[in-house]
Amino acid sequence: MLEPEEQFINLIFTEIPDLRETRWRMFDEPPKEVPYTVVAYGLYRQDKTLLGICYWSGDYFQHKGEGWYLADINVPEHFRENGYGTELLKRSCEKMWSEKKEIIVLARSGATKKRTFEWFKKRGFEGNFDSVYMWQYPPN
Ligand SMILES: CC(C)(COP(=O)(O)OP(=O)(O)OC[C@H]1O[C@@H](n2cnc3c(N)ncnc32)[C@H](O)[C@@H]1OP(=O)(O)O)[C@@H](O)C(=O)NCCC(=O)NCCS
Repeated sequence: MLEPEEQFINLIFTEIPDLRETRWRMFDEPPKEVPYTVVAYGLYRQDKTLLGICYWSGDYFQHKGEGWYLADINVPEHFRENGYGTELLKRSCEKMWSEKKEIIVLARSGATKKRTFEWFKKRGFEGNFDSVYMWQYPPN
C-alpha cells in the first residue's frame, strides 16, 4: 500500500492558459464594475487525463490590498472520493503561497452544502457554517 504522498507524486499540476479569464464584480459605494483575473490550474495523470480544476484570483480583493480568492474547485463526479480534490487543493494553496504569502478566502454560495463546508474545514479552512466566507492563513 502506497503512502498518500507517494500515490499522488506522479500527478501533474499545471495552469490551463485557455481558461484564464477576466471577470467583473460590482461595488456599491461608489457604484462601479471592477475587473479581476481568474486563473485555472488542472491536476492531470501522466497520460493527460484531467482529474480536476481549481480556479483562483490574485486581484479579486485588490480594494482590500491583500488576499487570494479561491473561486472554485471541481473534480468530475466519476473521479471523486479518490483524494484528487485534496491533492488539487493542497497544490493550489502551495502555488498561491509561493507567489505571495497571503490569506486564501473562498466564498460559499447558497448552494454550498454542509458536506462541502466540512470538506474545506477538514483541509485547514476556518469559518462558520452560517458565514459567507471561509479562509486559511499561509503557514509561517
Ligand atoms: C469538493 C470536491 C472538489 C472534492 O473532490 P474529491 O476529489 O472528491 O475530494 P477527496 O477525494 O480528496 O475527498 C473526498 C472524500 O473522500 C475521502 N477520500 C480521500 N481519498 C480517498 C480514497 N483513496 N478512497 C476513498 N475515499 C477517499 C476523503 O476522506 C474525503 O472525505 P472527507 O471529506 O470525509 O475527508 C468535489 O466533491 C467537487 O468537485 N464537488 C463539486 C464542486 C464543489 O462543490 N466545489 C466546492 C465549491 S468551491
